[in-house]
Amino acid sequence: MSIAVFASGSGSNFEALVQHSQLQSWPTTISMLIVDRPGAKAIERAKRLQIPVHVLSPKDFSTKEDYEAAILRLLNENQIEWIVLAGYLRIIGSTLLDCYEGRIVNIHPSLLPAFPGLRAIQQAWEYGVKVTGVTVHFVDAGLDTGPIIAQKVVSIEETDTLSSLTEKVHAVEHELYAACVYQVITGQIQFHSSNHGEK
Ligand code: GRF
Repeated sequence: MSIAVFASGSGSNFEALVQHSQLQSWPTTISMLIVDRPGAKAIERAKRLQIPVHVLSPKDFSTKEDYEAAILRLLNENQIEWIVLAGYLRIIGSTLLDCYEGRIVNIHPSLLPAFPGLRAIQQAWEYGVKVTGVTVHFVDAGLDTGPIIAQKVVSIEETDTLSSLTEKVHAVEHELYAACVYQVITGQIQFHSSNHGEK
């Protein structure tokens, strides 16, 4: 049994997860990356890290159900137990959710439920909040909803710029996500379909 990471973009969280999993000898390994965009930088990272990467573009399928069914076949063939979303810019549909409910986690760069959706760091910056942060949560059918596993606060200082804030948030993400995924795969945190992730 192993982990599949899904990404659409840069893949820095994917790389941080792979590094932590190798340094800490996780009992469940990251055995593949699934990407929905042929140009995603995450693909180069996977090749460098020697993790098999599969590019499945929704454009090549007539429906979302067909697209997710193809992913599901790949997951089943490879005995994937956990799905870890790392900058995957799609809402998980019922085809995957029905089979993997409670076994899909996501990271979001804000303190949910504040600032869901795209460009969350920029949303928080433009709103002028004094603290923002990172949320790791189990995935349900909504956009950045689902039981929260952990959150970490990032303060916004007078001297910050959007760029320095973005760097701070990403640095927190890379540590927090690895810690949470480890706790989930080792059973220290379990999925409950209420609003509360429980230890
Ligand atoms: C991260 O900020 C993550 O929280 C969000 O998308 C971004 C992905 O960054 N869901 P990267 O591709 O891991 O560098």
